[in-house]
Amino acid sequence: MDELLWEKIDREQPVAPHILAKMEEMRKKRMILPELKYIKRPAMIEGIRKAGEVNTAVLDEVGKHIRAGMTTQEIDDIVADCTAKHGAICAPLHFEGYPKSVCTSINNVVCHGIPSRLRKLHDGDIINVDCTTILDGYYADASRMFLIGNVSEERKRLVEETKKCLEAGLAAAQPWATVGDIGYAVSKYAHSKGYSVVRELGGHGVGLEFHEDPFVAHIGKRGTGMVLVPGMVFTIEPMINMGKAGVMIDPYDDWTIYTKDGSDSAQWEYTILITETGNEILTY
Ligand code: MF3
Ligand code: CO
Ligand code: CO
Repeated sequence: MDELLWEKIDREQPVAPHILAKMEEMRKKRMILPELKYIKRPAMIEGIRKAGEVNTAVLDEVGKHIRAGMTTQEIDDIVADCTAKHGAICAPLHFEGYPKSVCTSINNVVCHGIPSRLRKLHDGDIINVDCTTILDGYYADASRMFLIGNVSEERKRLVEETKKCLEAGLAAAQPWATVGDIGYAVSKYAHSKGYSVVRELGGHGVGLEFHEDPFVAHIGKRGTGMVLVPGMVFTIEPMINMGKAGVMIDPYDDWTIYTKDGSDSAQWEYTILITETGNEILTY
């Protein structure tokens, strides 16, 4: 977001005094607090909420059409067309040189899979489709898993339990809790099911930019890391592996992240708002 616009909103909609007072109280207890620029104001939240509605509609549209035999490029086409119809922009396209409008990550691909005319969806595949929408300058980011045709029980279980990892993180994402509480909840659930948690990538602040502070690790210690202040908007997006946690990056395209051991991986992502009473999902 443009700095002048941010300053205008900051002037008209400053952070409420009781929030500032509580932040000060926690700072004295040596907790890590966000900069005020990461506490979104009502006008910004409205903008992000609208971007989130479009992002959710785009993922719904993907869900209507995704099927065996389709290429991941066709998914890219659906996302690009649907986003444009809503008057919005796909954030991934040209982001740090990324070549497509969406990420499509199949089976042992952890994230950042690049759509291709050469990759068809096969019966039994599991795929993550990760969309980020920009509407009127505001960003919203979410991803879902899709089961293609007849999927093995083992893969189905991974997909379902990964969603429960996200839900465990969501339940921990309470006002005045910490980022570490989220990572603790996610990893505790994942490990209880025998899965491992990817460490190198995580959730992130979002809204005025694609990736903002804080980094939201999906492992962590309770009560550590940045405090979750009402008005913060960030993603929770656990990447959960059937095998070991290690990942590697494709040396040719420099984007695709694979599991090191070749095991399957799943991911679900929401953008959420911390409110004074809990949280609100802005896109899913
Ligand atoms: N949407 C991803 C995330 O959840 C980021 C993708 S970056 C891209 O943060 F360039 F690959 F699109
Ligand atoms: Co995403
Ligand atoms: Co994200």
